[in-house]
Amino acid sequence: MRRKLGHGAFLTIEGPEGSGKSTQVPHIVRWLKSHGYRVRSIREPGCTFLGEKIRETLLSSKHKNITTHAELFLFLAARAQLVEEVILPALKRGEVVVCDRYMDSTVVYQGIAGGLGRDFVERLCAWGAHGLRPDVSFFLDLPYREGLKRSGRKDRMERKSFIFHARVAEGYRKLASGHSRRVVVINAKSDVGSVWRNIEEELKQLFK
Ligand SMILES: Nc1ncnc2c1ncn2[C@@H]1O[C@H](COP(=O)(O)OP(=O)(O)OP(=O)(O)O)[C@@H](O)[C@H]1O
Ligand SMILES: [Mg+2]
Repeated sequence: MRRKLGHGAFLTIEGPEGSGKSTQVPHIVRWLKSHGYRVRSIREPGCTFLGEKIRETLLSSKHKNITTHAELFLFLAARAQLVEEVILPALKRGEVVVCDRYMDSTVVYQGIAGGLGRDFVERLCAWGAHGLRPDVSFFLDLPYREGLKRSGRKDRMERKSFIFHARVAEGYRKLASGHSRRVVVINAKSDVGSVWRNIEEELKQLFK
């Protein structure tokens, strides 16, 4: 049984590159607004002045040699700023916050696929985000090759090796099974409308 959600809920959307996260967010936002919620929609890394600078650095293909440790701290710094400056105040005002990627991305990309250690990175993420965990996370499950085909492998993260992306996809599945109360697995292989209908069914259960 999942928790019932309402005003002040914190939702995240997760999944490998090109799995359709940014495509589904506007549908989620529209649904929540039409059900009377005030919504704050954000994406990681970014959405603060500092976060956008860090985003530019992290995604630019000019930066060929950012180490996994450095990458971890850059993502954590962007998130720390976002949590204090944007997310916590919005939740306090009773808004529903929808975040495109959050701590599961760090645990999977740097902790599992990057080899820094799942448990250690999970603890670091919790500490860096003042313990703020999502109420629910939609994990868009798609074979990594299909996602990369959709996204076109344009930015620095997308250009990492196929082995890395395979570990990411597997990492998300492991994480989902370890957090089955929080993480809702959505089959992301079908068309945009079908994926949305699956998410909508879950939203109806969560917000009724
Ligand atoms: N269900 C779908 N079927 C086919 N194509 C899709 C589907 N969902 C999204 N797309 C397309 O795939 C591409 C990637 O989608 P999107 O940007 O939403 O993915 P993302 O998960 O946000 O990726 P990233 O991790 O790179 O931010 C876009 O061109 C989008 O139009
Ligand atoms: Mg996206």
